[in-house]
Amino acid sequence: MNSKKEYQFGTKVIHCAQSPKDWQGATLPPIYQTASHAHPTAEHLSDTFAGKTKDHIYMRLSNPTNRILEEKLTELEGGMGAIVMSSGMAAISNTCMALLRAGDEFVSGNSLFMSTYLLFTKVFSKYGITANIVESTDMDAIEKVVNEKTRFIYLETIGNPKMDIPDLTRATEIAHTYEIPLLVDNTMATPYLCRPFELGADVVIHSTTKYLSGHGATTGGAVIDSGNFAWSQKRFPDFQPFIERKGALALLDKIWREHHINFGTTQAPIHSYLTMIGLDTLALRMERHMSNAMAVARYLAKRPEVKWVNYPGLEGHASHHTALKQFADKGFGGMLTFGLADQKSCAQFINHLKLLYHLANLGDCKTLVIHPYSSQYVAFDEPTRKSLSITPDMIRLSVGIEDIEDICEDLGQALERI
Ligand SMILES: Cc1ncc(COP(=O)(O)O)c(C=O)c1O
Repeated sequence: MNSKKEYQFGTKVIHCAQSPKDWQGATLPPIYQTASHAHPTAEHLSDTFAGKTKDHIYMRLSNPTNRILEEKLTELEGGMGAIVMSSGMAAISNTCMALLRAGDEFVSGNSLFMSTYLLFTKVFSKYGITANIVESTDMDAIEKVVNEKTRFIYLETIGNPKMDIPDLTRATEIAHTYEIPLLVDNTMATPYLCRPFELGADVVIHSTTKYLSGHGATTGGAVIDSGNFAWSQKRFPDFQPFIERKGALALLDKIWREHHINFGTTQAPIHSYLTMIGLDTLALRMERHMSNAMAVARYLAKRPEVKWVNYPGLEGHASHHTALKQFADKGFGGMLTFGLADQKSCAQFINHLKLLYHLANLGDCKTLVIHPYSSQYVAFDEPTRKSLSITPDMIRLSVGIEDIEDICEDLGQALERI
């Protein structure tokens, strides 16, 4: 790619970090399926361990195929560097742990993917870390709980499955007033729809398992650093050695050195390869996911069996205006939830579907359906389900890229039979 020219997103996603001249003319990245890399001299291996070369040592530490994906994601999000990991949860847990020490606190929106919620509330509490969880879109509530122990603010661009959209510009202002970073899980929006760094956020996290890879073929995660946050500020004295080593990329160095390589959260190169093949069509897929999701939302809103539809593209949605502002009219995401008038018929509805898949994932080309209350959240107590807006009548739909008529027909025939 001509590095001087700023291409449109759909072009960039295909051509960025491509280097056929280094790949014997191949236009797809090579899969370096090797545990270790040989070094020409003892001095070279020593220099590489000391961080004086960018060469590779051992797959748990780094891998050339993974590095190509890291370069692509850095460019697509407009950041300074990235680390890919074995799953979205690996990226979330390593990033948060690199930032947190026993006794620290952080603020998080309550609109969180289930495992993130469990990590924040059940796992971190074992190590003396407090997650102050408040309404994701209530910026006053977020500001109110920031205190001298707070190390960061954490939000999802579009909450899964609550479908609410926090104002990231305002969240950034709050974070930076208190000299703390804003971390954003951008899985549901992808950089096609939202680039949180342009709104001021400092760190972006992805589950690449979802829209970025897009075919339900891989698991993976990534953390991308904007390189803009000043880690030399007074709340982060423990960052000093990492600043000395890597300057603006101190956080990535800390994540990598303290957590990623020691916890062994390596991405297998085949997963990076599959993610890169998927990435090529991200722009096209997102357009179709989103136009289909809008059509499904309108279709469901007219059905007598459906009590409510929760999609930010609908004008009455509480986050509609934030979405219009933040996503620059490109769309509203590919997922929605809806409630059945007869909440006891959720299982029956799912069992009657003929085309759509019933499974626990999202962001696949195929339309996916799940009843969160009786699946992912089956072991949650009722007050927690309520606080996370997981109601017994709620169905979650990750709308795929099939022909819209077929998606609606399948939904319609299943609704008719309940
Ligand atoms: C918004 C969001 N973040 C993170 C994750 C975790 O990703 P992974 O399953 O790749 O660990 C998920 C998974 O569904 C998710 O929806």
